[in-house]
Amino acid sequence: MRSLSLLAALVLLAGSAWAQEGFRPTAEQNFLWYCIQCHGPKGDGKGVNNTAKLPVTPRNLTDGRDMAQFADEDMVRTITRGGGASDLSPIMPPWGNTLSAEEIRDLVTHVRTLCKCQFDPKAKERFLKEQGKLPPQNQAPDPMKETLR
Ligand code: HEC
Repeated sequence: MRSLSLLAALVLLAGSAWAQEGFRPTAEQNFLWYCIQCHGPKGDGKGVNNTAKLPVTPRNLTDGRDMAQFADEDMVRTITRGGGASDLSPIMPPWGNTLSAEEIRDLVTHVRTLCKCQFDPKAKERFLKEQGKLPPQNQAPDPMKETLR
């Protein structure tokens, strides 16, 4: 019992010291703590979890051509609510219960420094087309559809 209260006192003490220092990890520190296992220290997707057993490759966040398809809001949504919320793989976990909204915003800024990219709506369109999520443009009308109308 005594050791328990001692432990509690120590935890309280440590907690207050932490709060007094106003410890606030930088986006880079958060990245190196929470994201590194999958996205790798450089963000190139080569974290230790990137093995053949993982059905989806953690995204290479340094690939500017690919990453340009994501607007800041897309990244905020994916990081907060997980890949599933953005029609991506749920293997990308949600962080909304772990990180504050501000920390997530800062992570998006950090990801922009990794990809050296800005959002490009054309890149998004190209990606959705490749995924078959956009109807192909300028296609000849389907004669069958015409007769069935
Ligand atoms: C368990 C592995 C894992 C961890 C940990 C992880 N990710 Fe991901 N992440 C993924 C995978 C897999 C994808 C690709 C999903 C897809 O393409 O379907 C992804 C995609 C992304 C994308 C691109 C998709 C988008 O909509 O923007 C960003 C940005 C991202 N992750 C940021 C992060 C950040 C920041 C962290 C840490 C807070 C993190 N990830 C932690 C696995 C992970």
